[in-house]
Amino acid sequence: MKTILASASLCFGILFMCVSFSTTGSSQIQVVGQTGPVVAKEGDDIILPCSLVPKGSVEDTIVEWTRSDLNTNKKVHLYKDGKDTVGDQIPGYMTRTSLFKEEMKTGNISLKLSGVKLSDTGNYTCRLPKENSQGTETTIRLIVDATTFLNIFRNDLIWNVTKVMPIVNGLLETGLIQKKVKSMISTAGTHQDQMRQLFQALDEGDVEMKSAFYSLLCKHEPDLTGKLEKRKQQLEEQDAVDFVNSTRDDLIQKVTNVTLIADRLLQKGLILEEVYSGISTAESSQDQMILLFHALDEGGSEVKSAFYRILLEHQPVLVQDLGGLLRNNRKLEQKIKDLQGGVFPWSRWEVAVLIICLLALLAVG
Ligand SMILES: *[C@@H]1O[C@H](CO)[C@@H](O)[C@H](O)[C@H]1NC(C)=O
Ligand SMILES: *[C@@H]1O[C@H](CO)[C@@H](O)[C@H](O)[C@H]1NC(C)=O
Ligand SMILES: *[C@@H]1O[C@H](CO)[C@@H](O)[C@H](O)[C@H]1NC(C)=O
Ligand SMILES: *[C@@H]1O[C@H](CO)[C@@H](O)[C@H](O)[C@H]1NC(C)=O
Ligand SMILES: *[C@@H]1O[C@H](CO)[C@@H](O)[C@H](O)[C@H]1NC(C)=O
Repeated sequence: MKTILASASLCFGILFMCVSFSTTGSSQIQVVGQTGPVVAKEGDDIILPCSLVPKGSVEDTIVEWTRSDLNTNKKVHLYKDGKDTVGDQIPGYMTRTSLFKEEMKTGNISLKLSGVKLSDTGNYTCRLPKENSQGTETTIRLIVDATTFLNIFRNDLIWNVTKVMPIVNGLLETGLIQKKVKSMISTAGTHQDQMRQLFQALDEGDVEMKSAFYSLLCKHEPDLTGKLEKRKQQLEEQDAVDFVNSTRDDLIQKVTNVTLIADRLLQKGLILEEVYSGISTAESSQDQMILLFHALDEGGSEVKSAFYRILLEHQPVLVQDLGGLLRNNRKLEQKIKDLQGGVFPWSRWEVAVLIICLLALLAVG
C-alpha cells in the first residue's frame, strides 16, 4: 500500500514536472522540481528532485537547499565556491545530505538525503540565490510515514498529550481533518478522551495526516516527543542485539565481507586495532567472524547494534533472510505492547456501555 502510494506520487510528480513561471525572456534559467510530494519511510535514503531548464552547469554558482517551513536562516545544504559548505548547515542534517557532483554539470541539483527521520517531514526549497529573478526556486514536500511511531506509542500519546486542541487546530488549518471532527474532539471530557477520538481520525487518515500529526506533536509537546524518540532508539538497539545473538551461527557462516565490517567498526573506535589486524589475517571468513564475535560479546550492546547497522547496509538480503528487516518493527510493536501489559484502563464510554448492558441483563433476568 505504502509502495503504491509512493510510486503513485512519484508518477504524479514526474508527469506534472512543474516549470516555474518566468517573467523575463525564454533564455532565463528556471529551476524545476516535482509537484507531488516525496513519500518515504524512516531510514530510507531519498532524492529530492531539482534541476535546471535549460540544462546548464551549476558548478560555479551557489546552490542552496532550505526548509521553508522552519524558522531558520540555516541551510539544509549549501554548495558554494565549487564545494559543499557546512558552516551554515542545520545541525540535524550534518553528514546526511549530498548533491550529485557528476550530474551537476548538466544542471541536476537534486539533493540526496540519507537515513530519513520523522522530523525531516517538511517543505524543502531548492534555490539559486545568485539568479535574482523569478523561477529560480522550487519547493518540494517530503512526507515521512509516522505510522509505526503512532502504533508503538499509541497509549503513551493517549495518556500524556495535553495540548490536544492546538494539534487538532493545526490539522484543521491544513485541511487534514474536518470541522465536525474537530468539534467532536473538543467536546470530549478529558484529554485522554480527546486523544482517543483523534486517534480514530488518524487511523482512518493517510500518511500525510499521520506525518502532519507528528510534526504538530514535535511543535506542541517537544519534551514528550523527545522522550518517546529516545525510548524508540533504545528498543531498536535492543532488537539489533537480539538479532545478532540469535542468528550467531548463521552469521558466522554467511557474512561475506568481514574485513569491511571490521574496518567500519575500527573507524568508529568500537574495536581495537589488534582485534582488527587479527581479523584481517584470519584464514577464512568463518574464522574472521568467530574473532569478530569475541569482540562483539566483549563490546556489548553498543558494538553489537553498530555491527547490525553496518551489516544491514552491506548485506541487506542476508539480514532479511534471517528475519531481521521484517521483525524489526513488528517485534518492536509487540515489545511495547508487552511492556504496557493489560494495565490500560477503559474509557468512560466503554464503562458506561458495560454498566448499561449489565443493568439490561439484570432487568431481563
Ligand atoms: C508546505 O507546502 C504545502 C504546499 O506545497 C503547503 O500547503 C503547506 O502549508 C506547507 N507547509 C508549511 C509548514 O509551510
Ligand atoms: C539527478 O541525478 C540523480 C542521481 O544520478 C538521478 O537519480 C536523478 O534522476 C537525476 N535527476 C534528473 C532530473 O535528471
Ligand atoms: C505517560 O504518563 C504515564 C502516567 O502518568 C507515565 O507513567 C509515563 O512515564 C508517561 N510517559 C512518558 C513518555 O512521559
Ligand atoms: C546477547 O549475548 C550476550 C553474550 O552471549 C549476552 O551477554 C547478552 O545478555 C545477550 N543479549 C540479549 C539481549 O539477549
Ligand atoms: C569487501 O569490501 C571492500 C571495500 O568495500 C571491497 O574493496 C572488496 O572487494 C570486498 N570484498 C569482497 C569479497 O566482497
